[in-house]
Amino acid sequence: EKGGWPSFMAKEIAEEPDAVANTLRGRIQDGAAVIPELSDLDELLTGIDRITIIACGTASYAGQVGAYAIEKWARIPVEVELSHEFRYRDPVITPSTLVVSISQSGETMDTLMAVKYAKDAGAKTLSICNTQGATIPRESDGAVYTHAGPEVAVASTKAFVAQITALYLFGLHLARLRGTLTSAQQAANLDELADIPGKLERVLESSDSVAQLARWMSDTRAVLFLGRHVGFPIALEGALKLKELAYIHAEGFAAGELKHGPIALIEAGQPVFVVVPSPRGSDEMHKKVVSNIQEIRARGARVLAIAEEGDAAVLPFADEVVRIPLAAPLFEPLLAVIPLQVFAMELAAAKGLDVDQPRNLAKSVTVE
Ligand code: M6R
Repeated sequence: EKGGWPSFMAKEIAEEPDAVANTLRGRIQDGAAVIPELSDLDELLTGIDRITIIACGTASYAGQVGAYAIEKWARIPVEVELSHEFRYRDPVITPSTLVVSISQSGETMDTLMAVKYAKDAGAKTLSICNTQGATIPRESDGAVYTHAGPEVAVASTKAFVAQITALYLFGLHLARLRGTLTSAQQAANLDELADIPGKLERVLESSDSVAQLARWMSDTRAVLFLGRHVGFPIALEGALKLKELAYIHAEGFAAGELKHGPIALIEAGQPVFVVVPSPRGSDEMHKKVVSNIQEIRARGARVLAIAEEGDAAVLPFADEVVRIPLAAPLFEPLLAVIPLQVFAMELAAAKGLDVDQPRNLAKSVTVE
């Protein structure tokens, strides 16, 4: 079933371009995002005044990425919360709150219980799910399926990029309904989205160099990950992957937070992955991240930068640079996450660990 791949995870990473393409299929019509499953919910989606995204683990990081895009495009406040935290803090929920759950399996008990809680409190609920007919979408007022195909490896990979794709489509669907983006802006963002599968193919072509890096680093005891804006959840996801697969202590930080504490962790030889935002987005943000790189380098960090092609500013300070193709800044997470997935998988493999079935973990967490 692995189709010649050494693990399901390797196969599923290779399937990421298809996961995105299949999630987009039939949902772009004449330059606008149209999600047919939501056609009965126009009134509901026009009337909401707040969105709360709930999810666990990797799905929650997809939610964090999606929140930037939905707020920007649909001009609606979006908060993201871990399902198990949401449910136990007496959150403010009104009939105009939309609670969007994200779950690959659709069976995660923490998320299911949070969806039921939100429904009982009067919220409208929408499920973004990869498993047709699973419990969470059945419990929800609406469902948008990701079409990543079955994900077998415990570590979520192709479902993650499909979840971000579905959230972006949903953001553009809302922007159309609510009139917050012009037709040209909607079409331009959809063009970016449609280009992602091809760009993912190109990112995958550089996997060998990332694999080699992972093999060189198989004795590493701790790795830090830095990102800013949409790169921040990618840093968190890179750290989660390394923890769960390679059993290495890993932390993700918002780059701007460095000087508020984490920089004290930097010592000679400490590997730090940095997700570098495109200088074509916010030049200021790019400069700030490059200066973060200089700060940690000056303290001996080994800098592993993930930066777009042609970004020369990182070269003098980075020990390794993994290149990703140019994309509009909001779309970079879809590309930048791949090297981090490959890195964690290859490092785990180099340590002789079971990549598909890490210790102590289950694919679907059906207990609270
Ligand atoms: O099935 P779900 O998307 O609800 O699962 C949520 C998390 O348990 C899951 O993403 C977990 O964090 C993965 N093992 C991460 O690779």
